[in-house]
Amino acid sequence: MYFHVLTLFPEMITNSLNMSIIGRAVEKDIISLEAVQIRDYTLDKHNKVDDYTYGGGAGMLMQAQPVYDCCEAVQKSIESAGRKRSRVIYVTPGGYTFNQTMAQEFSEEEDLIFLCGHYEGIDERVLEEVVTDYVSIGDYVLTGGELPAMVMIDCISRFVPGVLSNSESAMTESFSDGLLEYPQYTRPEEWHGKKVPEILLSGHHANVEKWRLEQSLEKTKRIRPDLYDSYMEAHPPVIKKKRRKSTQKPLANEETL
Ligand code: ADE
Repeated sequence: MYFHVLTLFPEMITNSLNMSIIGRAVEKDIISLEAVQIRDYTLDKHNKVDDYTYGGGAGMLMQAQPVYDCCEAVQKSIESAGRKRSRVIYVTPGGYTFNQTMAQEFSEEEDLIFLCGHYEGIDERVLEEVVTDYVSIGDYVLTGGELPAMVMIDCISRFVPGVLSNSESAMTESFSDGLLEYPQYTRPEEWHGKKVPEILLSGHHANVEKWRLEQSLEKTKRIRPDLYDSYMEAHPPVIKKKRRKSTQKPLANEETL
């Protein structure tokens, strides 16, 4: 998968995402990460990429021309490599909120272009021409789109086959089943007077699974009641019927529990 990040601060991307799991995937050529300097495309003789907003108001806006030419250059490089033009994600607090389902959907693309704004944003006319998706990482405002782009690239990459090792992808995680993750423990068995829950030492797999589900349910209900309600709607509790006396004939629609 090919990620292209259009930015005024390419080092932010290249210096941060070339480590750990993502760095390993880049090294193995499973994903490729290109940070493109928008300023390199300005036609302004002073290398300017921003200007005042029409109608007044504080702050500067990124101009249409360098953003458009930068984006077109990247799209052309993708096409000349024999791939189809890419979706262009404008990273903005005014977009749809990013989530795990979106990440999975984006991971099915061959290329993705992220457009990172700075200052007060980007001239609307170029957004209308190049952007296919407006995506935010949450209801708070950051100084630029680079960190959100990195968050999304990290999350999307986890869905790309080969990025995670078997053990990494087998891990049960928050959100994979709509619940928050249960608590986990490693050695030593006792630390600062706190013991690992007895059940985890029992070796009884079914009981361990049951305990983990209970912990997940309790934590999700407390911290994310919205997720808990959706989970309960999708997994209504099974109401056990009273056992009938074995001598009695079962009812026609009675389940065997
Ligand atoms: N740019 C600034 N804040 C942002 C956010 N919360 N999400 C996406 N892009 C942003």
